Amino acid sequence: MNIPTNPFPHRNLLGIESLTREDIYQILDLAKHLDSSNEPKFSHLLNDRLIINLFLEDSTRTRTSFEIAEKRLGAHVVNFDVESSSSKKGESFLDTALNLEATGADMMVIRHSAPGVPDFLSRHLHCRIVNAGDGSHEHPTQALLDAYTLREHFGKIEGLRVAIVGDIRNSRVARSNAWLLTKLGAHVSLVAPPTLLPKELQSTWPEAHLTSDLDNILPDQDAFIMLRIQTERGTNTLIPTRKEYVEFYQMNTERFARTKNTSVIMHPGPVNHGVELTSEIFNHPRSLILKQVAFGVSVRMAVLQLLFTASEKY
Ligand code: CP
Repeated sequence: MNIPTNPFPHRNLLGIESLTREDIYQILDLAKHLDSSNEPKFSHLLNDRLIINLFLEDSTRTRTSFEIAEKRLGAHVVNFDVESSSSKKGESFLDTALNLEATGADMMVIRHSAPGVPDFLSRHLHCRIVNAGDGSHEHPTQALLDAYTLREHFGKIEGLRVAIVGDIRNSRVARSNAWLLTKLGAHVSLVAPPTLLPKELQSTWPEAHLTSDLDNILPDQDAFIMLRIQTERGTNTLIPTRKEYVEFYQMNTERFARTKNTSVIMHPGPVNHGVELTSEIFNHPRSLILKQVAFGVSVRMAVLQLLFTASEKY
């Protein structure tokens, strides 16, 4: 493969924390180029590459759009099925990954419920590793596609006011977005009930505004990224009742009417209609939720392409 003179300086995408502004813009700009109508939808760029998708947590959007992105770039794709695998006989996750790598994988795209698994594998495997969501740690491609969506809509990210609302404590989407948006100069508010808003986050992102009062910040925000309550991570034990959560944190028609008439709604999915937002808001003309999904394919194509152009020395 030809190595460009200014290669992307990473073989793995483990999180947004380790990326620079320049890395992020390189991905967003390539995604924009791939989205242009002049570019063919399918290429042969990765046609000698084997990519294994290793999803040990459920996924609709991420798994599907990675597979589409891989196929559009011409890669050979294997979707590992954990339910019928020898992990059911007690084989460790590391052994599973080492054996899959031995079959010739050039890259693994990994989703796992435990934070740090992609980073752990990157220290034991030689193939490229992409984090497709690790527990409550990071979901880097989600933050990248969210940034792409914001830039497409507003023409910029710097200076935007973005509120991330909901289960901040357990959300890898909130963490990756907080890293990305603060690196790119947006004003970030992290909004949640006190039990879902650990105070330590303030020292991680000193420039972020932590608040439990959504109503107070409604008129100032350009975008609201609404988050699902992650019952699978025990969040429902940290809020008094669903009714009370809805009363103070749901984005509904009445609350949205108190925002700027240019503000937009985003959500990484899956949405729990009637909890973090209503169906009216999901279907609102200023909801970008399905655009986020659409942009996810070109953003993931850009990530794959750049990781394979990184020099082996990195
Ligand atoms: N946004 C997101 O990660 O959705 P999935 O869990 O369906 O992949």
